[in-house]
Amino acid sequence: MRFPESFIQQVTDATDLVDIISETTQLKSSSGGFMGRCPFPDHKEKTASFSVSQTKQLYHCFGCKKSGNLIGFMKDYHGMTFPEAIEFLAGRARIPMPVEDRKISSEEERQAERRRQIAKANELAQTYFRDQVKNASADHAAVLYFEKRGLSPETQETFGLGYATSAWEGLAPFLKNRGVQLEIAEQAGLVRPRKGSQGHYDLFRERVMFPIRKVTGEVIGFGGRLLEKGEPKYLNSPDTPLFHKGKVLYGLDQTARYIRSEDHVIVVEGYMDLIAMFQAGIRNLAATLGTALTLDHAHAIRKITPNITVLFDGDAAGQNAAEKSLPILLKAGLRPRGLTLPEKLDPDEFIKAKGVEALNQLLDGAPDLFNLCLHLWTLNFRGAATEKLALIEKLQPILDGMQDARLREMYLKDLAQRVQMNLPDLKRTLSHTQAPGGSTRGPALKPGMTRPPTGVATSPVAARGAEIPASPAQAAPVQQNQGQSGPRFTLKGASKGERLLLSLVLKNRANFEFVQQHKLADEFSTDSLRQIFAWIEETGRHSPERFDRLAGLLTELVDDAGVVFESEKVIGMYLAPSGAGESGSDADNSEFESDLLRDCVRRVRADGLKRQIDRLTAELRIQSSSEKLEQLMALQRERMALMKNSLKSLSKDAE
Ligand code: UTP
Ligand code: MN
Repeated sequence: MRFPESFIQQVTDATDLVDIISETTQLKSSSGGFMGRCPFPDHKEKTASFSVSQTKQLYHCFGCKKSGNLIGFMKDYHGMTFPEAIEFLAGRARIPMPVEDRKISSEEERQAERRRQIAKANELAQTYFRDQVKNASADHAAVLYFEKRGLSPETQETFGLGYATSAWEGLAPFLKNRGVQLEIAEQAGLVRPRKGSQGHYDLFRERVMFPIRKVTGEVIGFGGRLLEKGEPKYLNSPDTPLFHKGKVLYGLDQTARYIRSEDHVIVVEGYMDLIAMFQAGIRNLAATLGTALTLDHAHAIRKITPNITVLFDGDAAGQNAAEKSLPILLKAGLRPRGLTLPEKLDPDEFIKAKGVEALNQLLDGAPDLFNLCLHLWTLNFRGAATEKLALIEKLQPILDGMQDARLREMYLKDLAQRVQMNLPDLKRTLSHTQAPGGSTRGPALKPGMTRPPTGVATSPVAARGAEIPASPAQAAPVQQNQGQSGPRFTLKGASKGERLLLSLVLKNRANFEFVQQHKLADEFSTDSLRQIFAWIEETGRHSPERFDRLAGLLTELVDDAGVVFESEKVIGMYLAPSGAGESGSDADNSEFESDLLRDCVRRVRADGLKRQIDRLTAELRIQSSSEKLEQLMALQRERMALMKNSLKSLSKDAE
């Protein structure tokens, strides 16, 4: 659903970024706002270099340079998509979701209500399972099991691991006593009705329990593992209105931030593999629930990162899974690498047997999944023409389905080498490979062209040859940027003074008006800067009450969001942070700020004048003109006056 602008505004207005970030790191109030240690996992630091501005609702880390606004934090730290962030924040602020314009049928309303109730039942069940472990004695079967598998109490807490007792009626009465209708618990896949008699019994019994959560933390289902050998080893929630086994990626609520930070995800096959790797320190993970990767999985991953390594068990099933996932991952525009572990070990067993460092090394060296499959498919390759053709036919639909044209071109080169053909010949063969019905696709092609530009393509994908660049929509499918496909303004070429000036202008309206009076537009060094100032002027005029949020808006439009914090950095450097009980520092602060602003204006103007002077001088060298000469002298006088003033203000500083 698309949210109305006003709703997004209402939700973001109701949430304080300082509160949200305080849940992830300890913030202390300081002169410019709040400071703390950077909460992002890839930036481990001992000193506080992470700053949050309450008035601007922005964060910035002076250490690792990450910065952004509220929604950005929900995306980057919590791994939420834009709609997920809005929904989550609305729920947090207790703002009801907007009703869509079209009339909602009573059936839809009923379904939405049912989903809410199922979610509540899951949440309660999670508490129930978890408490069994929390309150258990040291010799409890579940406690011993987790110990045996080497899961620390901290890991158990992180993943909310629990236990379902052997009782047939443990969870059922628990839920009932808390007002959950057992029909709802049944739809949640937690209980079953007794055949031929009244009442319900628990579905999960004598199993260690893994809650399956969305990035928002909502529990949508469970996996339960038997303590001893038996069948089925894992029991998963059946499909429910909230849970679809083939779509779910396990663990993202804990791992999305690491995936974002590393811009890379490692996909494994099961709960224990993910948890074991997480505990060993590899955290950019996601797990399928034992199923093969689906296109739904691939699209979900593509929203977080394009870079994926799939870790397959080192057995025949693992190989099979590798081959099956290749076309799917390439189709979703991912850049897949693949690794099958040696000696039929799964990741959990591998870490226990060889250590996490060995696993890291293998992961670092993981080949492209395409090459891994190519290797598997040519193990007994003797180079006969029929073999080559069979291989090419096998690869044709995979290559055709690829979203990334550049990657496709590189794979073609790898393939050409493997089948010992030159690239044009291979492309010709590909373009002749049987279309449905066995006929060839059109006439022979000039070298270097994979498909005729018009006409004979038989399928939509066939029309997309390697030389035809992917459309922007294909090239960058999922920038969660609400319509914008990239930064609108660039700060390339801006001087230090100009950057500082910009950040001061964004700080408050008075600064902006001061700069406006000085009419600097002609003196900026780049067009983009002129556009940015015009944009500020325009936006400030339309909604003057929102001036505080301008900086936040700009971070989304500019290619270097750190600029917004430049002034804070300078002010912070010159003024010691206000210590406890020290008053008057606010006044110092604003005096320093206005001096800084004046200084910036002077600097920008002086630089601008210098550029004009240089230009005129050059022009005059080519052709003399008294008019230009006069102009030049005026500019030089202006510049001299400016310099004198700065000297004066400098000596005033020295007094
Ligand atoms: P595995 O059989 O590889 O188990 O199943 P595992 O992950 O190594 O688990 P441990 O180490 O024996 O405890 C991989 C995944 O397949 C699903 C589960 O999601 C599991 O994590 N699975 C497996 C089932 O759904 N049902 C089963 O009976 C077995
Ligand atoms: Mn295992």
